[in-house]
Amino acid sequence: MEDESSSKPKLFSLQDIQPSLLKRDYLDQSVMEAELKALWYTHWIYVCRENKIPKPGDYSIVDIGNQRIIVTRNNEGELRAFHNTCRHRGSELCSQSLGNFKGGRIVCPYHKWSYDLDGNLKTTPFLEQDKSANLGLYPVNNVAWGGNIYINLANKPATALGENADPSFTILDNWPLSTLQLAHSHRYELACNWKIFWENYLECYHCPGIHPELCKIVPLYKQNLATDKINPAANIPDAVAKGVESWTTDSKAVAPIFSGLSPEEITIGHTYLTLLPNQFIAAHSDYVRQVSIKPLKADTTEVTCEWLFSPKAMADPAFDPQRAIDFGNLILEQDAHVCEINQRGLSALPHKHGHLAPQEQDVINFHQWYRQLMIA
Ligand code: FES
Ligand SMILES: [Fe+2]
Repeated sequence: MEDESSSKPKLFSLQDIQPSLLKRDYLDQSVMEAELKALWYTHWIYVCRENKIPKPGDYSIVDIGNQRIIVTRNNEGELRAFHNTCRHRGSELCSQSLGNFKGGRIVCPYHKWSYDLDGNLKTTPFLEQDKSANLGLYPVNNVAWGGNIYINLANKPATALGENADPSFTILDNWPLSTLQLAHSHRYELACNWKIFWENYLECYHCPGIHPELCKIVPLYKQNLATDKINPAANIPDAVAKGVESWTTDSKAVAPIFSGLSPEEITIGHTYLTLLPNQFIAAHSDYVRQVSIKPLKADTTEVTCEWLFSPKAMADPAFDPQRAIDFGNLILEQDAHVCEINQRGLSALPHKHGHLAPQEQDVINFHQWYRQLMIA
């Protein structure tokens, strides 16, 4: 570990500042409607862990924008996803968020048309069947990776899941992601635009002032840098401090270290994977934390954080993940506060757009990604 005092990063200049997105991009409901079409309905969206719906007929409902999707398993146990819409007159088929389709049939509550778990229309009371009518449920693209289920509402997704992952799925190869189990989840609504969530996630300019506990765990963050790539002159590794085992309230691991990790991965202590616009995964030495978001309104974002552990760790009668959960929640609360004051301040009449400093290069990249999708 480098001596921090002898290696201060060079100061960036205000002259290098760049314009942020426009005020209306964060406040205007019509922008959000356009974003749903340009981004959210065309990218892969995390639904839930695979083992939340383990058996044929088990289902989970996921909402994105004004779209409501059924994710289930057919009789062979394969994942299937459908728009939650009956082909007769468009009634919602299913209003429970989680359950099992009894007898392998999805039955419309209105006039009782029924569908099998592959979405084929099976019965139409008081009507003769006509297969040529082709009135099966509208399918939705779905795929599982690392024990997670994802859907994509595009007719033909432009990219396979993970093609746009930053840096790439392979970075988590040494974590047994698909076998991990959910120990705890926390869902809340953030009073800010969804892009503010990502802007805050993508920079550590705020870290010294907002996350004192985290800065003790990751010394680089104290220098307002999120990665050692932004300012290599800082010469501080993007790793946890010496003696830190994990991101927990006492820096000690709460579960055995994953056996497949390399010594370097253990030393770094956090490996990140980002799947815009919806999820990031933070893999630590003893657990994995994954956070997913969805826009609810221009100024409201749903956040779900999940803490995943190995089944073996969870089977131990002494297993207690609370120190990992408490630490994660502390960081989430600190970030929630700044995201929400950021949103409130944007309404000022003279405000047109913000300014981005060089430390916020990943935010600049995020805005480039966003602008390209919105003008396409
Ligand atoms: S709307 Fe579904 S059966 Fe009539
Ligand atoms: Fe933060």
